Amino acid sequence: MRIAALFALFAIGLATELTPTDLVRQKFYDLEEELWRNVTDPSWRDSGLGGDVELTKAFFALNEQIELIPRPKRLTLKSWLWNKVSEKLQVVDGFYMNFMEFVRHQATPGAVPAPVKEWLDMAESILMDPKTSVAQAVRKIHGFLEHGDIFRSVVQEEDSDVCDLQMSPHQLIYDMYNTIALTEIKGYAMMQFSWMLLRIYGRGNFTQEASLTRQRYSERTGQTATAARAALAMSKRDLYRCDPPVHTSATYAEVTRLLQGYVENEVDMNGDATCKENCAFYTLTENHGCYMEQFCYKQDKCRGRIIDCQYLDSDMWVCPASRHSQRRYEWIEYENGRTLGRVGSCRLGATKVDSWWRWLFWHCSYCMCLCDDATGSHRFFSLREAKADISNNKVVTGMRLVKLGKVFHIQIYQGKLVERGFVESSEEVLAQAFDPEQAGVLEGVDYHTLTYERRAIDLDELDSPSGHVLTGARFRMIGAHLHFEIRATPFNYTTGKLHPEKSQWISNDNTEGSHTPRTRLELYKPDLPTRSHAALRIDSQHDQYIEFTHSDFDADAAQSTVPFIDVQPVVPSKALNTKGATLLSGAGLYHRGARGSGGFIGVKVITYDYSKHVKAEPPPSEFVDESETTEFVPIVN
Ligand SMILES: *[C@@H]1O[C@H](CO)[C@@H](O)[C@H](O)[C@H]1NC(C)=O
Ligand SMILES: *[C@@H]1O[C@H](CO)[C@@H](O)[C@H](O)[C@H]1NC(C)=O
Ligand SMILES: *[C@@H]1O[C@H](CO)[C@@H](O)[C@H](O)[C@H]1NC(C)=O
Repeated sequence: MRIAALFALFAIGLATELTPTDLVRQKFYDLEEELWRNVTDPSWRDSGLGGDVELTKAFFALNEQIELIPRPKRLTLKSWLWNKVSEKLQVVDGFYMNFMEFVRHQATPGAVPAPVKEWLDMAESILMDPKTSVAQAVRKIHGFLEHGDIFRSVVQEEDSDVCDLQMSPHQLIYDMYNTIALTEIKGYAMMQFSWMLLRIYGRGNFTQEASLTRQRYSERTGQTATAARAALAMSKRDLYRCDPPVHTSATYAEVTRLLQGYVENEVDMNGDATCKENCAFYTLTENHGCYMEQFCYKQDKCRGRIIDCQYLDSDMWVCPASRHSQRRYEWIEYENGRTLGRVGSCRLGATKVDSWWRWLFWHCSYCMCLCDDATGSHRFFSLREAKADISNNKVVTGMRLVKLGKVFHIQIYQGKLVERGFVESSEEVLAQAFDPEQAGVLEGVDYHTLTYERRAIDLDELDSPSGHVLTGARFRMIGAHLHFEIRATPFNYTTGKLHPEKSQWISNDNTEGSHTPRTRLELYKPDLPTRSHAALRIDSQHDQYIEFTHSDFDADAAQSTVPFIDVQPVVPSKALNTKGATLLSGAGLYHRGARGSGGFIGVKVITYDYSKHVKAEPPPSEFVDESETTEFVPIVN
């Protein structure tokens, strides 16, 4: 039979939305049925073609189909059960490699056929050897799988490792299932091949044995698929980055100088240069000058609004930060002993800052305020859409936040979607940098500026409707909130074809003012997240929001803006392989933090839900063999 004809045979069954692995099993049942019909047909065997060589051609074509299936990389997991199964899977895979070597050789046109003994030896080692046969390994695998729900147990054990593996639990189960199912197909195909071969060589009837093998295999794969499907439907599909071993500019970025701790004397905060009030009086004001060239002369004045002043103590030492720093002060130490920030040595030399009395009854106090000064501040978020090139059938395969200049952007990775949920490869789509001050770049259209009143960011986890995949993301303003949205595009699973015209933006438009309001995530005395000793875990939930604010006064002299932004790429690990990327259906923004830490805002992605595609259909019903048991003719001499 010609290879081309076999491909035609493989073309059927495309209508059902099965995984590539489940589809190959389905196709093999069809091939097997036809082969048994031929093998038991005396005219076929006697046609002089040499039934054994014909057989190898069919299996050679089968292998080409198997090779096309994107193979998950070898999973190294902690699970005992998985390791046991994995060991046996490797035995079968090893056998299969030798088997295919043999088959490839025999199927080569013009090859000298191997001696009959070699064929029989192979069949025997596949079926009979009590210790090392394929049949034995397959039985063992099944034994282990019956031992417990391998999928669920592995995911429970690996839960903490999702960070390291960079796979969602769902992805992990899907890869495990594919690994097991694909190897079982190989084992099963080799066993059927062997029965057919023995039949061709007249060693017995074997239709009964082959039928039994098929029946067991079909039951077993049915159970495995059912277990995998159930585990997939229950497992989490989200993926995010955890704390890196060291925090660097490649792992996080900061909003800067949004509301920054600022020391100012009362005398400079009113138009009359008086000291008639106290610090708390100044809830919203601005700088009005620099009286008598005091401390004000030594620091940059606040060019924006001065907010929420408080009196801490009269006299202090202030350690100025370097000119290049986004901080104003490294630390402040008051005479009463209170310290703000981490007091230590001071490279630029600490300055003594003392309040003074004016005519005995007016105290010109130094206040600790917040400065909302947009000049030199990094507080912009791009509102431009980040979309995959859907006209070339590309989908989003990963996402990250980046800071380009003073502006934060959503940046995506994209890859071409092909048949049955497979994405060919992944590339980064660089966000286009722009300067908010550039002519033609518009506030509210191109970017959002954080201010005291408009500094909330919504934390949502968004997924596409069934049958859709992720093709973009953007920020949009809803009221005073910066709001995250995803773009979903429907697609045909079997062909991989996107329907760009049916794309839609998806968001959770709930606000704080609604009937069931969006809730606020509070930060408690937030220090810099990079100083945290404990691992920071996700502490936000869908339908929350958080406000950018200043770091804690005591911990950091309120010099930084928290949360920080996690800029690590979130690309499911398969995408890091050159071969293939992971299909996604959703994305979200979350906060990772702890009490006493400002934490990080990061993106997460949601991997595509494969559960409905995992299915081991039984062999065609008319295919069940009804023949009686054969008398077994021992092989070999
Ligand atoms: C079975 O035999 C028929 C007739 O010889 C042939 O056309 C067909 O290709 C064979 N099938 C396979 C799978 O080899
Ligand atoms: C061998 O199998 C065929 C079916 O392929 C069946 O019709 C036949 O009766 C069997 N012969 C023996 C001797 O069992
Ligand atoms: C997907 O595309 C195939 C081939 O064009 C078609 O037969 C099938 O009906 C489509 N499926 C859906 C759900 O539209």
